[in-house]
Amino acid sequence: MTHVGLREAMSTLRAARRLRLDPIPDEVLRRVLEAASWAPSGGNRQPWRVIAVRERSRLKRLGELYAEVWKPYAAGYPRDGNLAASLRAGDHLAEHFGELPVLVVFCFNPTQLAITDAHLGRPSVVGGASIYPAVQNLLLACRAEGLGCVLTTLLCQREPEVRAILSIPEPWATAAAVPIGYPVGRGHGPISRRPLDELVYGDCWGEQLEALETRR
Ligand SMILES: Cc1cc2nc3c(=O)[nH]c(=O)nc-3n(C[C@H](O)[C@H](O)[C@H](O)COP(=O)(O)O)c2cc1C
Repeated sequence: MTHVGLREAMSTLRAARRLRLDPIPDEVLRRVLEAASWAPSGGNRQPWRVIAVRERSRLKRLGELYAEVWKPYAAGYPRDGNLAASLRAGDHLAEHFGELPVLVVFCFNPTQLAITDAHLGRPSVVGGASIYPAVQNLLLACRAEGLGCVLTTLLCQREPEVRAILSIPEPWATAAAVPIGYPVGRGHGPISRRPLDELVYGDCWGEQLEALETRR
């Protein structure tokens, strides 16, 4: 296992969409899945399960579905701007989605979610907080193992077909699909994010946090 500090792993965890088709050793796959299992969830109910899909025929069908959703999604973005490289990598992922060594599909049970914001008349997000920390743990663990990966959600649009391909029982539903493989080239690397003072306030909305200023 590569030794990558947690801060380095977090600060270089960018989407890796160009992945090699080589298999992932079972013990490595087990370690990244175990990291997912350590995530917190509302009431510690762990209302998620993962299906680590390695069977070629199921992967192929999921890959076809992903490509069908990716194409119209990607067509909505211009190819000449700063998204061009990501879109090309996205095309590559869509072309090979069904050939990768493993696709980790996160499922969740809506009846087991702790949802504290359902009554507010805006899109509810709290339920997802019992699922996506596990996804992030998996991504970070992949980063530490030298594996490339990317959180994808486009397949959720085709949940009925995914349910049939993977025999997911009601009321379980799909939250994300993470393709994993050893990266082509560098894989994870520098990320581009908003500066901290755009994201963090002190004491109330819009106020600068002094701790950020002293770092300048
Ligand atoms: C909720 C969510 C859904 C995403 N869905 C997809 C997806 O379906 N396909 C894909 O290629 N990337 C997907 N991504 C990856 C994002 O595009 C990526 O994290 C973002 O553009 C930042 O890129 P970077 O991590 O390489 O800096 C998703 C990310 C998140 C957090």
